[in-house]
Amino acid sequence: MSSTLKKKRNDLITTIKRHQEAYYSKDQPKISDEAYDQLVAELFSLDHELNIPRSSTEKTLGVGHKKRDEFFSVEHSTPMLSLDNAFSFDELDLFFKRVTDFIKKNRIDFVPKYSAEIKLDGVAVSLTYMDGELKTAATRGDGLVGEDITDNVKSMNGVPEVLNLKSKNKSNITYFENSIIEIRGEVIFSKKDFERFNKYQERASEKLFSNPRNAAAGSLRQLDAAITKSRPLTFIVHGVGKTSGSITDDLITHSSFLELMESVGFKIIRPRIKNGHPNIIKDYINQILNIRESLPVEIDGIVVKIENYELQSMLGSTVRAPRFAIAYKLPSETAITEVIGIDIQVGRFGTLTPVARLKTVSIGGVNISNATLHNEDELRKKGVKIGDRVEVRRAGDVIPEVVRTVNTSIRKSDNSLSFEIPKFCPSCGGKTERLEGEVARRCISGKKCPAQFEQAFVHFVSKKAMNIDGLGTKLIQQLIRENLVNALDDIYNLKYFQLEKLDRFGAKSAQNLISSIDKSRVTTPAKLLYALGIRHVGLQTAKAICDALTCFEELFSLAPEKLALIDDIGPVVMFSVSSFFETRENLELTKRLLNEVSFKKEVFNKKGVFAGKNIVFTGTLRTLKRALAQELVQKNGGTCSGIITKKTDLCVAGEKAGSKAREAQKMKIKVIAEEEFLAMIDKNI
Ligand code: IVH
Repeated sequence: MSSTLKKKRNDLITTIKRHQEAYYSKDQPKISDEAYDQLVAELFSLDHELNIPRSSTEKTLGVGHKKRDEFFSVEHSTPMLSLDNAFSFDELDLFFKRVTDFIKKNRIDFVPKYSAEIKLDGVAVSLTYMDGELKTAATRGDGLVGEDITDNVKSMNGVPEVLNLKSKNKSNITYFENSIIEIRGEVIFSKKDFERFNKYQERASEKLFSNPRNAAAGSLRQLDAAITKSRPLTFIVHGVGKTSGSITDDLITHSSFLELMESVGFKIIRPRIKNGHPNIIKDYINQILNIRESLPVEIDGIVVKIENYELQSMLGSTVRAPRFAIAYKLPSETAITEVIGIDIQVGRFGTLTPVARLKTVSIGGVNISNATLHNEDELRKKGVKIGDRVEVRRAGDVIPEVVRTVNTSIRKSDNSLSFEIPKFCPSCGGKTERLEGEVARRCISGKKCPAQFEQAFVHFVSKKAMNIDGLGTKLIQQLIRENLVNALDDIYNLKYFQLEKLDRFGAKSAQNLISSIDKSRVTTPAKLLYALGIRHVGLQTAKAICDALTCFEELFSLAPEKLALIDDIGPVVMFSVSSFFETRENLELTKRLLNEVSFKKEVFNKKGVFAGKNIVFTGTLRTLKRALAQELVQKNGGTCSGIITKKTDLCVAGEKAGSKAREAQKMKIKVIAEEEFLAMIDKNI
């Protein structure tokens, strides 16, 4: 064996062990899972070169970590193994082929079926039930011996203390009598609970966890079980270890086992595939990839298992992993790269956002060269300096972000530069401020600041706003630079000859732009309101506001009390809207815009419980003043009149209602009492 290769191999093993320790024992991984897998793969390829059998290296590495001393030890009746990985459909096909080859070779008359479920990124736990009662709970430990965490697990969400056979026709006792079953699963923290919990920790100046898995591990392995019980942990079943007694006969397939477990009080993984064929499994993987972001839990892959337990046991396991299952690993969402600079971006409302310029790195097939550092506080907390190596995350459509710095110990002080958020706006040079309770520093120059104006423009033309096709950021910058637009409505005065002269703009593109600008002139009030870019007014809020209006101009002198009547409008939005229209330039801009655009017909007041209905009030209303009642009708899409006609849809009769109510009854128009009228609104708003 060459001594350099041998040394390299030993060094690799030491590094891997160090990372195992950091990951398992300290719950503070130093590198991403993918980087870890790469190290292990490198070691195996060295072994291949050196002719060292893989199984001996696997033994050296172990499947988990060394247990901590403080807990009692629990020996697992059957080892808690790891899973082999597939990183592509080709590798997954190799797994399916190995199974069919095995079947052929052993002349088993069987078409294998597979289950597929998400691979939960949590902490593996084994629960042992005797005669239907929870006896012990243990962590995986080194796979053979784990830590006794029975007290920590008792009363955890998803852990029944007694197995309850509601759906079976056998009594609990006889069914589980003389039986032992080891139930394997994952203890997890949901994404939502993780965020909430970290916020709570931050407020209490306690340790923050870097992801839900670490939070679950840290919360579970507490010597004080009361701490574990105070954390929002859930146990989810994914497998079975040793069984003995009557229950064993009922275990035929993996999916039927899970269903049995669900019927006795456990939680199981959903969505899942049962009795699937390879193509169905691949479809499921693709679907999960698409919805990964919206899943309530963190996942790090998809586990494919042979359904039939008999076939599973025929295939058996290696020392490390079973041969009947495989983990399809999802593409990593993080990567490590270097910060080559930090820029400040000025947002639409003047927020200064530090953005790291990165040495380009590919994450999940997409090249990333910028990542947000969010704000002054985050920048400080993460301590990112120019020249640092950082972990960057890209998840779905979310803007890539810097998660943390890595290897700061090897940071060369002369190479890394600290960075402070500037006190003056890098775009306009104006003053910035950071209000109490806000995390970000903001430039206070408003639309006079070129960066803010540019962003306001980008927003104005965007799809959900005025939807002007073909007007990207580069072109907007050019229009501003050439002084062709100084206010948002200038877009509607652009002339063909002005556009034609622009860089890289021909007759055709000029014509196209003019026609998409014209197309945008017919819009809806909500889109126009949203396009104005009022702080805190998203499209949904703009819709809610416009639904309560009878015309757009009503906004100019809208009493805050009226805005407050609109559903979902809190004081912050209310203040933002009213102060926007109190500013002269904004008011004038909106008026000019109203001259340029027109609204699709009948867009106001189309929604609500009285949409399109005509209502007549008669008699004295007990709780409402007549004017307020009429306003409520309008707000809910209806109109009011003083007399009953053929067009009347509803008559609301208060006390001492007289001829109008009688008239309505005669004409078979529905007459309701004030209470009913109020109830209709309550139900609907
Ligand atoms: S089946 C022999 N199914 O992943 C182990 N494991 O990397 C068979 N895991 O130790 C386990 N979700 O703790 C299985 N749906 C799932 C899983 C899952 C997460 C964990 C499990 C295991 C580790 C292997």
